[in-house]
Parts: sequence; C-alpha cells; structure tokens
Amino acid sequence: MVPIKLNLMTKSIGDKKTKTAIFISGTGSNLENLIRFSFSQKSPILIKIIITDNKKARGLKFSKKNNIKKKIFNFSKKKSAETKILKILNDERIKLICLAGFMKILSKKFINNFKGKILNIHPSLLPKYKGLNTHKRAIENNEKYSGCTVHLVNSRLDSGKIILQKKVKIFKKDTAKDLQKRILKQEHLLYPKAIRKLLTNL
Ligand code: GRF
Repeated sequence: MVPIKLNLMTKSIGDKKTKTAIFISGTGSNLENLIRFSFSQKSPILIKIIITDNKKARGLKFSKKNNIKKKIFNFSKKKSAETKILKILNDERIKLICLAGFMKILSKKFINNFKGKILNIHPSLLPKYKGLNTHKRAIENNEKYSGCTVHLVNSRLDSGKIILQKKVKIFKKDTAKDLQKRILKQEHLLYPKAIRKLLTNL
C-alpha cells in the first residue's frame, strides 16, 4: 500500500507544477541547475523537455542523466524548426519556456505563441550590454559592476520586461573569463528565484 500511495502523491504534486521546456545551445550549466531546482519542493516547475539547435551541445548529457526528453532542431530552416517545436510544446502541454544559453533568435510569431511565458537569462545588467561578449565589453568600458538579468523575451533582442537582476563587482585584475565565472555563479542563484517570482509571486 505505501509505495502506491507515494506514487499517487508524486503524480499529483507533479501535476500542479508548470510544465516547462528548457532551450539550450551549449554547456548547459543553467540547465543542470534548473533541473536540480525542479526536483526541490519549492520549485513551481516540472521540466518536461530540453530543446536545442545544436546536436553537439554539451548540456544534452543532462537529458539522459535525468530522464528528460530531448529534441534537436536544425535552425538553418528556422521556420520549419519553429513549427515543429511549437507542435511538440503543445503536445507536451508546455506553459513556460526557459532559454538558458540558447543562441538562436526566435521569430516574433513563435514568441507571440508564448507571450509572457518565455524567460531568458543574460550575462549583463540589462539594458546595458545586450548581445554577445558582454563581459569583455563591460571590462573594456571600465565598468565597476556588471551582473546578470532574467527577463521576459519579446521580439527585440534582450529587451523584454526585467524580472530580476543581480549586480556583480568587477575587480581591476579581472579577465573576461574571471568575470564570466563569477557571474555564472550568480546566474545559478538568480534563475530559480526569477522563475518563482514569475510563477508564484514569491
Ligand atoms: C550564460 O552566461 C547565460 O547568461 C547566457 O549564456 C550562458 C549559458 O551558459 N545566455 P550555460 O550553457 O548555462 O552554462
């Protein structure tokens, strides 16, 4: 009797959580962190699927490890890739998309299908340093601080509503790599907090 009861409980807890897709292109440290978070009791999300444009993305290893479905799409045919992704997200009843180092720009049409339900994490204090090479540019401009931002995705690059930000000090001797490492640690704290803020207002 006991195991059956536990199974039912797990199912009903899972059912209440927001079904989420994570989009990645590379290492996947944010993905790994979000998977860990999703297993915790305070997580409002259940990660159902990992989507990538890069079949060599290192983060894909977290799919097998954690028994999470993965799908790879060829974005050289972007329109067709997005149509297929939308179908899968619909089949999986996905209600939230978290971009975590996803390097492709999604079309306006795709974003409109998930208005207010796509989050991205960006390694700068937006609106400063949109786009690439954020750490190098912040250091070259002698900024005292950089940081990271979780924001909603709209059709303009790195420009949607900011959910949360974390400031990180830049030291004189910092290389872009040093700063990237220090900011990435903060990203791992910020993304789960931002998800909870968006979904549960905590
Ligand atoms: C992170 O710095 C994130 O802010 C940016 O891409 C990087 C992805 O890192 N959008 P990882 O693949 O999660 O390790």
